[in-house]
Amino acid sequence: SVMRDIMGIDILERQLQKRMGIRKVIVVPGDSDQSPWVKSELGQATAHSMKNLLKSKNIIAVTGGSTMAAVAEMLTPDFGEKDLLFVPARGGIGEDVKNQANTICAIMADNTNSRHRVFYVPDQVSTEVYKSFIKEPLIYEVWNLVKSASMVLHGIGDAIIMAERRNTSQEDLHKILEGKAVGEAFGYYFNEAGEIVHKVLTIGLQMDDLKNVGDVIAVAGGASKAKAIRAI
Ligand code: BG6
Repeated sequence: SVMRDIMGIDILERQLQKRMGIRKVIVVPGDSDQSPWVKSELGQATAHSMKNLLKSKNIIAVTGGSTMAAVAEMLTPDFGEKDLLFVPARGGIGEDVKNQANTICAIMADNTNSRHRVFYVPDQVSTEVYKSFIKEPLIYEVWNLVKSASMVLHGIGDAIIMAERRNTSQEDLHKILEGKAVGEAFGYYFNEAGEIVHKVLTIGLQMDDLKNVGDVIAVAGGASKAKAIRAI
């Protein structure tokens, strides 16, 4: 649009695409830390991108967070003309209910007249619980769906804010601080060089699985997330 031209957004997007080596960058004007409506704009831009990428059959894995909740608000019944199944990317009980991937998937399915599945597992589990959980038929079934996702939608968080929001143990918090983590996505904590310094053990999508996903859409905004976004 003319407005985007005047603001130089198209140029900025192309520069970022090149510098970060990613397929497509979409920049939304404003700072969502300052103006809450910018988050809705992020949701709108995400919905638009998603729509262009949908195939006839889609399994869409979604993380939690207030940004993903804003995306859910922007999905409309016409999306449901395609076959859509929303699944939580990872176990997410522990966050505020409205920010849990389970809740967000339910809203996305509702707004698009589509289906969703739930992952009723905590966002952090012990190794023993992990091993026994994936033997549960219902959990195993959803886990398989998640692993075959055709699209992933995820948020990005500031490392320390996410560690606090998750009631992280003292030991893990120490690891996150010691590793100088700045960003978080999927329960993985990254330092400024983009190296993983800590990983939350939970059931669902792991970083390695992303290689097999056709379309990965990361959505984040706010000046406070700049370092986090760059790290991821
Ligand atoms: C969480 C995800 O639910 O939301 C995190 O598990 C993500 O991976 C975070 O970083 C982002 O939250 P928000 O509210 O800043 O969009």
